[in-house]
Parts: sequence; C-alpha cells; structure tokens
Amino acid sequence: MKKRSNFTSRIGFILAAAGSAVGLGNIWRFPYLAAKYGGGTFLLVYLILAITFGFSLMIAELALGRKTGLSAIGAYTALDKRFGFLGVLSAIVPFIIFPYYCVIGGWVVKYFVTFVSGGMAAAAGDSYFTDFIASTTSPITWFFIFIGCTAIVVFMGVEKGIEIVSKFLMPLLVVLTIGISIYALTLDGAMGGLMYYIKPNMADFSVKTVLAAMGQLFYSMSLAMGIMITYGSYMRKENNLERSVRQIEIFDTAIAFFAGLMIVPAVYAFSGGDKSAMSAGPGLMFITLPKVFASMPGGAFIGTVFFILVFFAALTSAISLMETIVSIVMDKWKLDRPKSCLLVLVLALILGIPSSLGFGVWSGFQPLGFDILDFWDFVSNSILMPIVAILTCFFVGFIIKPKAISDEVRRNGESFKSEKLFTVMIKWVAPIFLIAILVSSVLNALG
Ligand code: PHE
Repeated sequence: MKKRSNFTSRIGFILAAAGSAVGLGNIWRFPYLAAKYGGGTFLLVYLILAITFGFSLMIAELALGRKTGLSAIGAYTALDKRFGFLGVLSAIVPFIIFPYYCVIGGWVVKYFVTFVSGGMAAAAGDSYFTDFIASTTSPITWFFIFIGCTAIVVFMGVEKGIEIVSKFLMPLLVVLTIGISIYALTLDGAMGGLMYYIKPNMADFSVKTVLAAMGQLFYSMSLAMGIMITYGSYMRKENNLERSVRQIEIFDTAIAFFAGLMIVPAVYAFSGGDKSAMSAGPGLMFITLPKVFASMPGGAFIGTVFFILVFFAALTSAISLMETIVSIVMDKWKLDRPKSCLLVLVLALILGIPSSLGFGVWSGFQPLGFDILDFWDFVSNSILMPIVAILTCFFVGFIIKPKAISDEVRRNGESFKSEKLFTVMIKWVAPIFLIAILVSSVLNALG
C-alpha cells in the first residue's frame, strides 16, 4: 500500500477538511434553500441537525478512515467484507455531484470575469442571470474552464495545495462575507428579511424544510459520500477527533450562516418584501449579489474580490470531489493518475453539459419535474446520501459497534465528551429519522 502523507499540523488538517466542506454549498446553496424553505425555521432545523446528527456522522466517518488508513471502499471492506458495497455506493455520490458542481463553478468564474472587466452594472440588471444560463455556448465554456482548473490541480497531485489555499484564502473569505453581510443589513427594507431569516415561524415548517435541511447538511459537510473517510485516513493519530469535528462544523456552519445573512435580507430589500422572490432557487446568489455590490461604494472591487474567493472555495471543494473519484478509478481499474484524470474529466464534461443546457435549449426536459441540474442535486442529496447515511449508521451501530469508533476517538487517552449522544444518534435516532425522511422524499418526488 502506498504510504499516505499526513497533514503537517492539526490546524492544517482542519483547514483542508474545511476546504472541502466550505464551498458552493455554503455560499450558493445554503442561502437559496434557507430563503425558499422557511428562513428562520430552516435555520433552526439545520442547526439542530448539525450538532446532533452531522456531528455523529462526521465523527464516525473520520474515525473509520483514521482507524483503517483507507478510503471509503477499502475501509468498509477491511472492517467487514459484506459492506464493501457501501463504499461503492458512497463513491457514486461524488460522481453525480462533480459535473453539476463544476457547472455552478463556471457561473462563478463568469461573474468574476464580468466584475473584473467592469460589467457590474450589467450583471445587476434583472434578466442578466437568466439570459446567461439560458444561453447555450457561454455557460458551457465557463464550465469547461472551471473543470479544467480543477483537473490541472488534481493531475499534479494535491494535498499541499489544498492546505495552503485553505490556510490563507478561506479566512479571507470569511472576513469578506461577514463584511458584506453587515453592509447588506443596512439596505433599505433589509430588516424584514433579517427577521424572516433568523426568526423561526412554525407556519413555515414542513417536511420539505426538514428534507432540504438534511440534504444540505450532508452536502455542506461533505458527508455520506466517503470523502471524510478519506480525509480521516490522512489524519494524524495525535489529533483530537472530537474537537476537530466541532471546529469543522462550527466553521462550516458559520460561513453558511453569514452567506445567508449576506443574501436573504438583501433579496427582501430589493424585492420590496415580495416573498415570491425568496423562492428563486439556484440563481438566488447570482441575481442578488450583483445588486448588493452595485449599491455599495467600491462595489466593483469588493465584488471582484468576493467572486475570486468564492472561486477558490469552490475549487478546493471540486478538487476534493475529483480527487475522490480519481483515486477510486486508480484503485479499481489500476490506471495511473494521468489516465484516471483524463477519464474522469471526459466523463464529467459529458455529464455536465446537459445540466447546463437544462436551463436553456433543454429546459423542456424535466425529469420528475426538476431542471436537469436540480434533478442531479435531488438524486444525490435527497436519495443517495440518506441511503448511504442510513447504511453507515447501521454499519457502525450494529456491525462494528459504536464502541469501535469511541475507541478510535479515545486512542491517545483523549476524552470523548459526547459519546452518549453519539451512540444514541448513530444507533437509533439518526437511522429512524433518516428512513422517515427518505420515504417522504421519495413520495414527494413521485406525487
Ligand atoms: N461540501 C462542499 C460544499 O459545501 C461540496 C462538496 C460536496 C465537496 C461533496 C466535496 C464533496 O460546497
């Protein structure tokens, strides 16, 4: 087995894992879901799920990786031969996410270039975004550019690069996001939006809220797809797992929270309190932020810096997605890195094009009533990830037993303060809850 390089420091590890976790999920996806699925209600459900369920699943995945020193497929097989399929199943998730993730990454690059070249006023116009995604060649070109950048990094071999980008650029992104959100709150009419965003209102509560929050949790924390297992395998034995998980979680959730704060109240302000503007969906950030920047002194510069940082956040996540897929292809089919990269790249290009066209010439094609990009998003987040998570809980709860994980957490005599919570969550609460969610999500989609 090839020797795995360890991350150089604990903080380096946290940042690298956070680099994978923090990405478009936080900045693009979280705000549009929060806006659409009940604002404060969504936020509350998300937070509860993050500290109970997200925490337990992340501990389990990282510990599985660190214990075995292997990535998903190998880790499950090593612990119990019958569960190798679970590794394979979790490996399918990044395959589905990666192509459409790069389509959105392409949108970010397009906005960066627009801002750099003085196009902010145009971008703040009402139909700019919809015209852009409805066109054929332009979004596909930006998609190719984004995926090309990702492929180059993965081709050259990665860990160091991710650690460095994460160490310097992610903190900068945090600061900028907080700054912009403070500004956005000063917009006329933003207060109504702020209330909607932070105040839970039981009338907004629905199964869809829980479903959306759950899917978002997996997505945002890169859970239920084997990625954290791989990260765990790179983790040093001396690291305190529980503390690291808490830190990653807080970091990831804080960024999502501020991204929402930067966008949701502003939507409210610009639409004059019109609630239907809240359900814009995937385009929300791209429609709203240029308007925020256009209204702010120095907005062209700040917007440019913002989009380049989002680009890096998206890039580190896309790298971790592609790296996971490439290493699986290398292991499974015994291909070398260049060949695997090329194969994955070509497949992702082919798979990503329909997601892009789904907003334009192919918009008549609506699988299960979704745009093509949303369809893939739904399949991975609301179907496959819950299935993987349920099976992971079952595997940990009843096959290797929670104690195997606790022992790994305590390996160096570290304490495991939330052990009780972890055990109850993994064995009972999470699987029962997830099955309920999965069933209702399938019924929802079919009905
Ligand atoms: N968690 C990343 C984000 O929030 C997305 C991602 C998912 C990255 C899965 C890697 C793996 O953008």
